[in-house]
Amino acid sequence: MRQTDSDIIIIGAGGIVQHAHLPAYKKAGYTVRGIYDKDIAKAKIVAADFGLPVAFASLEQAIDAAGRSTVFDLAIPAAALLSVLEKIPPGSSVLLQKPMGENLEQAKNILKVCNEKKLSAGINFQLRYAPFILKAKELLNSGQIGTLCDIEININVLTPWQLWDFLFTLPRMEILYHSIHYMDLVRQLAGEPESVFARTIKHPDMPQLASVKSMIYMDYGENLRASILTNHCHKFGPRHQHSYIRIEGTRGAIYIRLGLLMDYPQGVPDEFEYITLDENGEGKWKSISIEGSWFPDAFAGSMGEMMKAQSDKKYKPDNNLEDGLKTMRWVERAYQSTENGKSVKK
Ligand SMILES: NC(=O)c1ccc[n+]([C@@H]2O[C@H](COP(=O)([O-])OP(=O)(O)OC[C@H]3O[C@@H](n4cnc5c(N)ncnc54)[C@H](O)[C@@H]3O)[C@@H](O)[C@H]2O)c1
Repeated sequence: MRQTDSDIIIIGAGGIVQHAHLPAYKKAGYTVRGIYDKDIAKAKIVAADFGLPVAFASLEQAIDAAGRSTVFDLAIPAAALLSVLEKIPPGSSVLLQKPMGENLEQAKNILKVCNEKKLSAGINFQLRYAPFILKAKELLNSGQIGTLCDIEININVLTPWQLWDFLFTLPRMEILYHSIHYMDLVRQLAGEPESVFARTIKHPDMPQLASVKSMIYMDYGENLRASILTNHCHKFGPRHQHSYIRIEGTRGAIYIRLGLLMDYPQGVPDEFEYITLDENGEGKWKSISIEGSWFPDAFAGSMGEMMKAQSDKKYKPDNNLEDGLKTMRWVERAYQSTENGKSVKK
């Protein structure tokens, strides 16, 4: 259990709060003051299930209950973020669920409103803090893998989109709501690309969803390939489903199985393997067991950044909004690329 002076008020009591935010905060020892959802009955059930002190009857009540050290944890659909942010008191700390608005215009407005109100705000791009990603970063930073030259994120699963009603009316879906995590991760590992080439499309079984399969190439020039391939429609059983991140360097490689996506949101176990080559070019794959996973543990990381920024006013959270806006710009360019069939530069 970690002791912190901050506490949390959650706005939104949907699937992600129940499957990830609340279990992560419990595991990390973070204090949750209460929860509000516009569906008040739902907030009451979630409060009871997780032993929270209160389910607020209105947003105003939730805001009035905040102390000086409260972080507002907004876990609502992107389209609802701005209207809630308008009501958050100036100077507060806020963590916003991804995506940062439904398009780049909204992302810029979110940043503007947060800056005008001097909010200490961050985005919940939490894959960055998944324990297996922290381990991969440690291996990369230690130089054991050599120079990074390949990142492949390849997802072939059956995703239960019916869990999210609000996705069915959106003009943008797969990249904005799912592959955005991978674009953010690639930026974290490799910095800003030179351009992006993308195509995101539908599936005949799911005509109401704007897109459910994507191919995204983030171009880093001649020596580093970064590709994201997602197919959420593999309805042919687990045999040929897969979900992995493979990172290769000049001297070693890392393979991570994202178990979560194979049977979302219960998931199957993750896998973490890596290899480093000796001076003769030889090595053996090692499998290591890593405590914790994307759900829920990574969510303690993004909230932890906000808490750290709250206790040290000079600290800029790693998941700050300016950084989030950079990921949103690449998402916007990926949609432009899908429309015009060309790669789109910075
Ligand atoms: N790994 C991740 O980071 C991850 C995974 C899933 C969902 N999400 C994000 O979390 C957000 C919510 O997803 P979810 O799965 O919980 O969806 P959900 O549909 O299960 O829940 C959304 C909840 O928000 C509530 N809500 C909507 N507008 C509100 C408002 N103005 N005030 C208060 N409550 C409001 C709804 O009543 C609902 O209970 C989405 O933006 C989604 O992209 C992130």
